[in-house]
Amino acid sequence: MQKILIVTAENGWFAQGKFPWESMDIERIKRRLESNNKIVNVTTFQFLKDNIASLKDYIIIYTSSQRLEHKYYIQDIMFLLKDNNTLIPNYESLLAHENKGFQSLLDKKYNLGLIKSEYYCDICEVKNIKNLNYPLVYKSVNGASSMGVKKVHNTEEMYKYVKQPCSISLELLKRKLKKYIFKSKYNHQWEKYLSFAQQRFIIQGFIPDLQYDFKVLIFGKKYYLLKRFVAENDFKASGSGLHSRNIGSDLKIVLDFARGIKNKFRSHIYSLDICVKNKEPHLIEFQMTHVGPVTLSESDHYFIYNATTNNWEKVFSLSSLEDEFSNAVEEYINESDSYSA
Ligand SMILES: Nc1ncnc2c1ncn2[C@@H]1O[C@H](COP(=O)(O)OP(=O)(O)OP(=O)(O)O)[C@@H](O)[C@H]1O
Ligand SMILES: [Mg+2]
Repeated sequence: MQKILIVTAENGWFAQGKFPWESMDIERIKRRLESNNKIVNVTTFQFLKDNIASLKDYIIIYTSSQRLEHKYYIQDIMFLLKDNNTLIPNYESLLAHENKGFQSLLDKKYNLGLIKSEYYCDICEVKNIKNLNYPLVYKSVNGASSMGVKKVHNTEEMYKYVKQPCSISLELLKRKLKKYIFKSKYNHQWEKYLSFAQQRFIIQGFIPDLQYDFKVLIFGKKYYLLKRFVAENDFKASGSGLHSRNIGSDLKIVLDFARGIKNKFRSHIYSLDICVKNKEPHLIEFQMTHVGPVTLSESDHYFIYNATTNNWEKVFSLSSLEDEFSNAVEEYINESDSYSA
């Protein structure tokens, strides 16, 4: 029988419920998976660390974190477990979470249809590129609700965003004091060394005149859609709060495109931001773990692909996040079996 570990963080928390600080109902997921003939134990990252050398042939279900240090900690632990166990999410999905730079690399590997993007760690890498086609979109690698997403019209503007420090650390403050006040302690070479790669970011092609984008969640066979309109005098739909379930004429384009992504990159769940320009779909960004669930949990319907008709069926039914999550995990595990057979 398959052995499953569900890994929770502090206080039995498993991300995410409606908000990042809300947990899913783990007992419900556990019961669902057990009823499908699996041995399921709920455990902690501490248990994984304690048994890092011996854990083998487990299916380990865990989630990432939107707290950066926490995420790096999870990455370290899961890295050493990934070769001998089935990780859900897989390790690439974990690295892609809240990391638009890694997403752009995954796009290069799997051809996911991301808007043309390049990943950098320093502005000097951009300096050498001739004929940049402005306007472009600058995105810090990490930043939800469209914070850190800026339209840039020229190199000067790009410099401004890259150089803008996100936060002032004590370490940075000390270095500035040495530079300007305690000058004898200032080490120019050390400063020069540290000045490279202060911020990772991507530069993405800008798709003009979008009125809306689409949030698509895929949980197993079920596809959920939300249309998000851009706010007035802005180009960003995410964070505008202007939503509709009335998808309109782009419906099939978006669903077919989302299904194509599912076929190219294996994951248990998907959250895709998609836009359509002149009937051409593009991927804006994606997450495969720790996804915001309201597109699913507040929907009274979902879409299912019918292979016989090559069309999409709209099914009216409410969805439970935990049940759909369990179904998605189940589907992923079954497909993993058939892959390894
Ligand atoms: N390359 C682009 N061209 C045109 N519009 C874009 C582009 N990239 C992003 N946008 C717009 O900006 C919004 C925010 O972008 P993106 O999804 O990359 O940022 P985010 O901060 O991760 O947002 P969230 O996590 O809330 O979805 C998108 O919803 C879209 O409307
Ligand atoms: Mg987004």
